[in-house]
Amino acid sequence: MSNETEIRKGLAGVVADYTAVSKVVPETNSLTYRGYPVQELAAECTFEEVAYLLWEGELPTAEQLEQRNAEGKELRKLDPDLIKLIDVLPTTCHPMDVLRTAVSYVGTKDPEPFTTSEQHIRGIGLNLLAQLPTAVAYDIRRRAGQEFIEPCLDRGFAENFLYMVFGDEEGSPANSPEDIKTFEQSLILYAEHSFNASTFTSRVITSTRSDAYSAITGAIGALKGPLHGGANEFVMHTMLEIDDPAKAADWVNNALDNKDLIMGFGHRVYKKGDSRVPTMEAAFRELAARKDGQKWVEMYDIMAETMDGRTGIKPNLDFPSGPAYHLLGFEVEFFTPLFVLARVTGWIAHIVEQYSSNALIRPLSAYNGAPQRSVADADR
Ligand code: COA
Repeated sequence: MSNETEIRKGLAGVVADYTAVSKVVPETNSLTYRGYPVQELAAECTFEEVAYLLWEGELPTAEQLEQRNAEGKELRKLDPDLIKLIDVLPTTCHPMDVLRTAVSYVGTKDPEPFTTSEQHIRGIGLNLLAQLPTAVAYDIRRRAGQEFIEPCLDRGFAENFLYMVFGDEEGSPANSPEDIKTFEQSLILYAEHSFNASTFTSRVITSTRSDAYSAITGAIGALKGPLHGGANEFVMHTMLEIDDPAKAADWVNNALDNKDLIMGFGHRVYKKGDSRVPTMEAAFRELAARKDGQKWVEMYDIMAETMDGRTGIKPNLDFPSGPAYHLLGFEVEFFTPLFVLARVTGWIAHIVEQYSSNALIRPLSAYNGAPQRSVADADR
């Protein structure tokens, strides 16, 4: 390979394939799912409608939605053996590891994991979309020493999850239409984002004609990293560490002086702002006003202003979603698993798309190691 080979570190700027699932236009801060602006979907649709759109290409009619929801609800109960498996996992491990293990387990029960038909993959998606929230809720409550709450088949996706986590006592987010809406909006905004690292991971694994469970476990591993989905947890760790809005500007300035990354800022594709932030920021402000969370809003504003003033780098979706999840009552270590519950819809849409027009993903590398040599000449 010649010395002039152009290396695109991190594949930055490389267009790897076509996709019809979503479109990101950084110049206009726009994101559409199957052609619909994500802001409109977040304002007007349920998460179930958006999941249907991502998988089927069209928003469902009332009848299609009812049928899909009925199928999904039937799958919400956890296999008792999966509960036993979760119980033996240490509560010291990250909840993303529990989720990754749960997906692997579900895969072992599929008699036809290698079937690549669209229908089969969507069935896997429907099953995971129904089971994973129950697994996460179970893990949240077992770590808190609380009794498991069985899924409720009469509630929608977002409401049922909040119910399984927080119960339905007075003050539970599951009883607040505003809290349910905020949570649901976060799920819609997190559902899909073209060739991000975890989705691309799922496509790489799919491209080898491996099974969808392997693709999803790989995607969960990629999402866990703090440069990707793990950032929403680090945003809140940072805010909890700063604790006082009066200290926020100094904290940001010190971090920048030390050349530290500040989580929740910056994006590989958006350089003028993340299309999803205005919707999530408005939801966070509204939530904070209802839940006495002004401190976090003040800190949010000061951090964003200081960062913009010094670097011009804007917040990404994880910046408002982190404190919003905190105000909803979630433990920080569960923020990225919440992201998984949403993104599994995008991953499945991409796995189907990859299978439908597959080429093994296998880039080249430019070797820059030791020149060729012989073992006979080694000093050993
Ligand atoms: N905090 C401080 N500096 C940042 C920054 C951040 N969050 N994001 C980018 N920068 C700086 C980089 O250090 C780099 O500085 P340099 O030119 O002096 O080396 C410059 O901005 C350009 O960034 P670059 O590394 O080209 O951006 P990227 O496209 O490779 O990285 C991210 C994108 C998301 C990986 C990066 O912005 C980041 O690590 N953000 C924090 C993690 C996060 O919030 N992830 C969630 C993404 S949705």
